[in-house]
Amino acid sequence: MSKPIIALDFKDMDAVRNFLGPFEESLFVKVGMELYLQNGPDIIKEIRNQGHEIFLDLKLHDIPNTVGQAMKGLGKLDIQMVNVHAAGGSIMMQRALEGLRDSGSTASLIAVTQLTSTSELMMQQEQNIQSSINDSILSYASLAHKSGLDGVVCSANESAMIRDALGASFLKVTPGIRTLTDDKGDQVRVATPESARENGSTHIVVGRSITNDANPVEKYRQIKKAWESNVK
Ligand code: C5P
Repeated sequence: MSKPIIALDFKDMDAVRNFLGPFEESLFVKVGMELYLQNGPDIIKEIRNQGHEIFLDLKLHDIPNTVGQAMKGLGKLDIQMVNVHAAGGSIMMQRALEGLRDSGSTASLIAVTQLTSTSELMMQQEQNIQSSINDSILSYASLAHKSGLDGVVCSANESAMIRDALGASFLKVTPGIRTLTDDKGDQVRVATPESARENGSTHIVVGRSITNDANPVEKYRQIKKAWESNVK
């Protein structure tokens, strides 16, 4: 099973080096827009050279041609997972996939459904989507599945619904992970590592729970153990 993915939401490589330094094991890390947009592709090379796997979380969302061409470029980086917004539509997702595969990359391509910071009320008022948030998430997940993508980003609360509709092998990558004592911060749809596993998440993404802890290595191991604890 996949290791918990640590969100490296830092501003520069020095902060990343300080954070990664104490870890002895090889990790699966997420490089998001904060780090990538301020530091560029060199960051990917350096993290790969340290032996870690990378989820490049840039959440591309633009016209199909632009996203396809951008994916062609990103696919040349040695990354293991990358994503788009499902709201960009099926043609955009298909072009993204073509671009990625044309570059020779075998990275998993997944689509964001609704951000885990979005509540049902926000979705209804600000996106003017009048369904339940679960219906919206399932509809985006089905669109991503039909478009040939490997999976979706959703909250752990929706993993079981997506597994039942689209199968266990369709990836459910779930941020918004908190232990019971952690601060929720700006996340709305949160879950513990144990409940994410029980609900069928295939991957969990953990940021501030680990990066803000006084002992990140210990906290990572605690979360990894909790995540792996209910493997049957
Ligand atoms: O610190 P925290 O654990 O909340 O970090 C979650 C990470 O997952 C952040 O890097 C955020 O950008 C990302 N993410 C998310 N919700 C999504 C997709 C990605 O929180 N739907």
